[in-house]
Amino acid sequence: MSIKNICCIGAGYVGGPTMAVIAQKCPHINVTVVDINKERIAAWNNDDLSSLPVFEPGLDLIIKEARGRNLFFSSNVEESIDKADMIFISVNTPTKTYGKGKGMAADLKYIELCARQIASVSKNNKIVVEKSTLPVRTASAIKNILDNTGNGVQFQILSNPEFLAEGTAVNDLLMPDRVLIGGDNTKEGQKAVNQLVEIYSNWVPKNKILTTNVWSSELSKLTANAFLAQRVSSINAMSEICEKTGADINEVAQAIGMDSRIGPKFLKASVGFGGSCFQKDILNLVYIAKSYGLDEVADYWEQVIIMNEHQKQRFSDNIVQTLFNTVSGKKIAFLGWAFKKDTNDTRESAAIKVADNLLSERALVSVYDPKVKKERIYADLENLKTRSDEENKTLLKVHTNAYEACKDSHAIAVLTEWDEFVNYDWAKIHKAMQKPAFIFDGRGILNKDLLENIGFSYYKIGSGY
Ligand code: NAD
Ligand code: UDX
Repeated sequence: MSIKNICCIGAGYVGGPTMAVIAQKCPHINVTVVDINKERIAAWNNDDLSSLPVFEPGLDLIIKEARGRNLFFSSNVEESIDKADMIFISVNTPTKTYGKGKGMAADLKYIELCARQIASVSKNNKIVVEKSTLPVRTASAIKNILDNTGNGVQFQILSNPEFLAEGTAVNDLLMPDRVLIGGDNTKEGQKAVNQLVEIYSNWVPKNKILTTNVWSSELSKLTANAFLAQRVSSINAMSEICEKTGADINEVAQAIGMDSRIGPKFLKASVGFGGSCFQKDILNLVYIAKSYGLDEVADYWEQVIIMNEHQKQRFSDNIVQTLFNTVSGKKIAFLGWAFKKDTNDTRESAAIKVADNLLSERALVSVYDPKVKKERIYADLENLKTRSDEENKTLLKVHTNAYEACKDSHAIAVLTEWDEFVNYDWAKIHKAMQKPAFIFDGRGILNKDLLENIGFSYYKIGSGY
C-alpha cells in the first residue's frame, strides 16, 4: 500500500523545508507539518512569503507551489497524527542543560513526548520515521514507548536522518548526495523501508537511496557531522600555524585538496564553526563513547570542539592585542552574525562568542547582518547570561546599514561570509573610520591588496604576513 497522508511533527529548519520538497515532488501525497509553536505555524501560513520562519534560497517558490494544494501547516497535532500513515519526527534534540549528561547528552524529552502522543492518538498501524538526529539506539526507546502505551496498533520505526545544510537546504533536498533509510530486518520492517524508498524515488535516483539497519543509520548521521566538523577544526588548527610561519591557509588548502583522497570541500579556515548541529552532535557522540567506557574515543572527538573554542577565543584575543591591548570604549563593527551565509540562523554562531569576549573588554560593538533580526542578536547574548540585558543593549548596537555600523569604528570584524561584503565601497568605509583602521577577516573573503592600498591594516585568518 502506498503512503497517502504524511504528518511531520516539528516545523523547524528541517521539518519545514524537507516536507515542502516532499509535497512538491509528490502531489499525490498530503503532507501536514505540525508544531506546538503556534506563532511558527502562523508564519509558515503567512501570505507574505518573505516572512516565512526559515530563510532558505528557493524555499518561498516551493511553498508557493505546494501550500494549500497538498502541503499544510497546522497546530492541530493530534488530528494530523490520527490521519497519517507515516509520521516524521523532526523536533529539536538539543544538548541537555540539566541532570545526568548535562552539557553533553542529547535531550530526548521532545522525542519522548512525540512518541507518547503518537501512541495515545493512533487507531491504525503507522510508520514512524526518525528525522531528528538521535543517539544510536533511540529507535528501541521509541518502540518501547509506542508498544507499551499504545492502543495495540502496530508501529514500524525507521531512521531517515537529514543531511541538508542550512543556506543550501533546497538544493540539498532536491539533489541529495544520498538518502539514508534504516529499518528492521523483518518482513514488516523491510515493507516500511520500501514505502519510504518509494516516496523518495519520485525525485531521487534509486542508486542514491541507501538502506541499512536502524543502528547504522542513526550512527551514520552523528559520524557524518563529526567528520565534517573535524575537517573544519583540522584546517583551523593549520591556520594558526600558517599565521606563525608565513604560509597561507588558502594555498595549503588548495594544495592538499587536489589530492583526490582528501578532496577540496570543507577546507575553508574560519573564525570557527557554528550551527545547531556540529557541536551538539559531537558532544552527543562523546557522551555515547564515554557511556560505553570508550574514553580514548571520547577524548579524540572532544578535541574537535576544544579546537573550535580556541579558534573563536584567539580571534577576539587578536583584536584586543592588535588594538594596542585595549578595546575599552572603542567601536568595533561586526559584519555578519549568522553562523554562515544565506541563513538567518544564529545558533552557536562564532559571532556570539567573539562579541561576548569583546563586550567583556568593554568594547562598543555595532552589528550588521543582512538577514538576522535585532531581537535575535540580543536574545543570543542574553542566553549567555554574562551580563545584564541592559548592559548588552548599552554596549552593543544593531544596524540595518553596514556603512552606519562601520562609521567611526576602530576595527571591522568579518564574522559571516555574506557575498555582499566583498563588493562594498571599502574606500568610503575607510574614510569614515577612526585611524589606524583595522579589518579582521574571520572568513578570508576580502581582497587584501585592495584593502591595504586603501590604507587598512588587514588581518586574515590563516595568513601571517
Ligand atoms: P528547530 O528547533 O528549528 O525545530 C524543531 C521544532 O519542533 C520547533 O518548532 C518546536 O516547537 C517543535 N516541537 C518540539 N516538540 C514538539 C512536540 N512535542 N510537538 C510538536 N512540535 C514540537 O530544529 P531543527 O533545526 O529543525 O532540527 C530538528 C532536528 O533535525 C534536530 O534533531 C537536529 O539535530 C536535526 N537536524 C538539523 C539540521 C539543521 O540544519 N538545522 C540538519 C540536519 C538535522
Ligand atoms: C551541517 C552539515 O553540513 C549538514 O550535513 C547537517 O545536516 C547539519 O549540519 P550546517 O550546520 O547547516 O550543516 O552548515 P555547514 O555548511 O556544515 O557549516 C557548519 C559550520 O562550519 C558553519 O559555521 C560554517 O561556516 C563552518 N565551515 C564550514 C567552515 O568554517 N569551513 C568550511 O570549510 C565549512
